[in-house]
Amino acid sequence: MKEQQKGVVIWLLGHSGAGKSTLARLVAHRLETDGYRTLPLDGDVVRAGMNRDLGFSDADRLENIRRVAELCKILLEKDLIVICSFITPMQSHRDLLRKTLGDRYIEIYLECPIAICEQRDVKGLYRKARNHEIENFTGIGSDFEAPAAPDLLVPTAMWQADECADAIYHLTLETLAR
Ligand code: ADX
Repeated sequence: MKEQQKGVVIWLLGHSGAGKSTLARLVAHRLETDGYRTLPLDGDVVRAGMNRDLGFSDADRLENIRRVAELCKILLEKDLIVICSFITPMQSHRDLLRKTLGDRYIEIYLECPIAICEQRDVKGLYRKARNHEIENFTGIGSDFEAPAAPDLLVPTAMWQADECADAIYHLTLETLAR
């Protein structure tokens, strides 16, 4: 692990299909190649295990984010670069993250029009939501509030994946140097 590594939480948020998991992988790879130690936390993975008791009501989403924030706090003590991929649809979720993690929380909004996420529909969930097979799906049956003041906005429908990863990688390095 790089000697000067400090703990930081790179929080990628946005609609399902906006590119969170893909960019988390690309950015982690670059940082690891530089010798940094990273740890990914992904909504699908966390919800399959630690948070499998939670659904997608407003209260459960808040509890999902709260638990992950507390876990991040513990991981920060080990100076890890934690890369989180969660929809994080409400401003209250992000306020809680900022309150819990302070200036080690870097908020990155992966902005992608919902029509494009739905067109990609990598997991087939938008189709299921339209067919009423899934309730409370973000952007269809459940709200998404655009972040008021993210540290970085990445337009994933307009930029190539490499360009998006570059922007996130550089902000991470700047933050580590602070
Ligand atoms: S969050 O709203 O609490 O931040 P999180 O990122 O953990 O959501 O989980 C989102 C993932 O759960 C999606 O990528 C998708 O694969 C799956 N999912 C299943 N049902 C829903 C739903 N109703 N709304 C959003 N995502 C859902």
